[in-house]
Amino acid sequence: MKTTLYVFSATGNSLTTATILSKKINAELVCVASTRALSEISENSDAVGFVFPVYYGNMPYPVREMITKMKFSQKPYIFTVATYRGHAGDVARRMDALLKTRGVTLSLSLGLPMPGNSFINKPETDRQYLAEQEANIEALLPALSAKEIRDYSADGAIKETPIDTANNFRGITAEDTCIGCGRCVRVCPMNNITLTNGKAVIGDRCATCLACFHWCPVEAIWMSKQENIARRSKYHHPDVTFEDIAGMKNK
Ligand SMILES: Cc1cc2nc3c(=O)[nH]c(=O)nc-3n(C[C@H](O)[C@H](O)[C@H](O)COP(=O)(O)O)c2cc1C
Repeated sequence: MKTTLYVFSATGNSLTTATILSKKINAELVCVASTRALSEISENSDAVGFVFPVYYGNMPYPVREMITKMKFSQKPYIFTVATYRGHAGDVARRMDALLKTRGVTLSLSLGLPMPGNSFINKPETDRQYLAEQEANIEALLPALSAKEIRDYSADGAIKETPIDTANNFRGITAEDTCIGCGRCVRVCPMNNITLTNGKAVIGDRCATCLACFHWCPVEAIWMSKQENIARRSKYHHPDVTFEDIAGMKNK
């Protein structure tokens, strides 16, 4: 039985979750960011999992983009493990609807509460989520090994979200305080950041993952002009390094 686990992550919550889970269920890990150059992705596994952060009750754009290129040679057992800080919203129905365009359906949608990398939880809540991460992953295993199936069919159209396409609707910008280190260029999963005259310039094909903001070593990148999160503190999962996230484009 072959299981493949596709993972997308900007600050490590989903990467650590997928890494732990892949060992427990004996799955091969594939990084979503590394598939962007492919025009087609042939998938012949018996079980396929997707681990990613919830954005606006939706999946990240790179996950959506990848699925539109997937060709399933059989009808695998398909599951998601979405990491989120508060509420996963309609991500399961959106994922099921997208998978149906590829001739398959979502079998099981699971979730894992983790620290927020956009809006902010109470520090004690985030500490608890981190401390309980491994136990919470363990708690997902019975449903996965029983291959539970649930119905996520949407009755009617599902509302579009700003991240159904790649665009910089949040107005993420780099300022003159940029030191030109190129870290944002290396972690951007969309290859949407360039260095021009030694300064980062953010293009308009942004997935809003906030990797550029969180991994910037200075205060050069605005993640949003929204008042309550404009200059929130930087976050990354304590077990994940800059190289781990930058390296996801190559594996
Ligand atoms: C643009 C954006 C939108 C988000 N929207 C939601 C949301 O709708 N619900 C939620 O609970 N968390 C939301 N989050 C928080 C992330 O899902 C959560 O922190 C996730 O675990 C980060 O995963 P990562 O470390 O693998 O990147 C959002 C984060 C970002 C960057």
